[in-house]
Amino acid sequence: MDKLVIKGGKPLSGTIEISGAKNSVLALMMTSILTDEDLTLHNVPYLSDVLTLAELLENFGITIKVKNNGQPEDLYTTKENNLSLTLNGSTINNLNAPYSIAKKMRASFWSLGPMLAKFGKATVSLPGGCSIGTRQIDLHLDTLKAMGAEISISNGYANAKVNGRLKATNFTFNKVSVGATINAIMSAVLAEGVSTFLNCAQEPEIQDMCHLLVKMGADIKNIGTSKLIITGQDKLQGATHTTMSDRIETGTYIAAIGLTGGSITLNNVDFESIKNLIDTFKKTGIQIEKTGDRTMQISSDKQIKAMDIQTMPYPGFPTDMQAQFTALMCLAPGTSCITENLFENRFMHIPELQRMGADITINNRTATVVGVPQFNGAKVMATDLRASVCLVLAALSTPEETIIDRIYHIDRGYCRIEHKLAKCGVDIKRVK
Ligand code: UD1
Repeated sequence: MDKLVIKGGKPLSGTIEISGAKNSVLALMMTSILTDEDLTLHNVPYLSDVLTLAELLENFGITIKVKNNGQPEDLYTTKENNLSLTLNGSTINNLNAPYSIAKKMRASFWSLGPMLAKFGKATVSLPGGCSIGTRQIDLHLDTLKAMGAEISISNGYANAKVNGRLKATNFTFNKVSVGATINAIMSAVLAEGVSTFLNCAQEPEIQDMCHLLVKMGADIKNIGTSKLIITGQDKLQGATHTTMSDRIETGTYIAAIGLTGGSITLNNVDFESIKNLIDTFKKTGIQIEKTGDRTMQISSDKQIKAMDIQTMPYPGFPTDMQAQFTALMCLAPGTSCITENLFENRFMHIPELQRMGADITINNRTATVVGVPQFNGAKVMATDLRASVCLVLAALSTPEETIIDRIYHIDRGYCRIEHKLAKCGVDIKRVK
């Protein structure tokens, strides 16, 4: 298992290219199930979750061709960060998503809706993914049942079938769920009739997927709102689409500069999706200046101000930034309260931050952070994707050596993080 060895304590300086968004590209790739024609995706980040999803789609029979600067590449061995994939779903011959793949990634469950919509049946393993809470699938199943699917759960698998096509439905989510909204949209675009979904998740990554589906011939109204109206089509065509930039990766590097001081340029930034996040970071004292359409200069003198946040569905403060923000608050003089409203078990980074000298007390869903002057180095363990990156951030701030174990979690969602940070002057190595 790889580890990261980091000796921080120096201000960051340099340029970082923000990659395509993990949570977007997974949804975009999944739409290849819905068409027999070529789907070409650009700005695909090199991430282990992308490889896992590719494995799942190839297991269904989908062909995937990879290009980098126009040259064919092997997806599993490429050294590039930014890929173009062409997926073709005309060769799907297996409607079973096995546990061996699904256990690695919760988004594998998003295949249930599109498989059912296109082929009328599917068997999908109950999902794995980051252990940040119970992460139920009831809403995924309820929408599909409302569209006429019969679903039984046995031996760890959801077995779904529908007599003929899925039928349009009027459905209100009783909780805002990114994954269930994605599954519902991918089902409704091929269902018979006009569906209305209320209380949908509005995350920019969902919007990105909707824009791709519209290019493929789908009829989706009110994209970016909580009320989606979708008129099902008989079939969808191929399309070409550029994956939006990763707002969580962007926010992570903004938190980093707050902890290290210094000044860096971030390129390939999607400003629209991080407006609120920028406002929050500015309140902590980090300077953020838009220097071009997709470029920002971020700088800090490490004088971070304590502030309270609570995670909420988009456009609220993202749960995927909670751990990184907590690390930032650890060095802010005073007290800050971090409330996690989405997942009940998303404070697993806190014992690790405490090993690095943080002063944090957890009470139910709120972590109270009292600022300390600095982190110390330690051996720590990555426990989930965002929890692990917050340990990287803490490590960047201290000149003492930090060794972060189990960094396969980071590789799920951060494209070659050690290369990007090394280019900004960080002493960081990946060791086996
Ligand atoms: C997605 C993101 C993840 C992010 C999360 C919340 C991807 C690949 N993952 O995860 O990075 O942290 O959104 O923004 O895009 N819930 C139910 N029943 C369901 C589904 C969800 O009760 O059927 C609950 C969950 O337990 C959780 C809440 O709804 O408490 C939000 O979960 P959801 O939005 O579904 O998260 P994911 O789609 O798994």
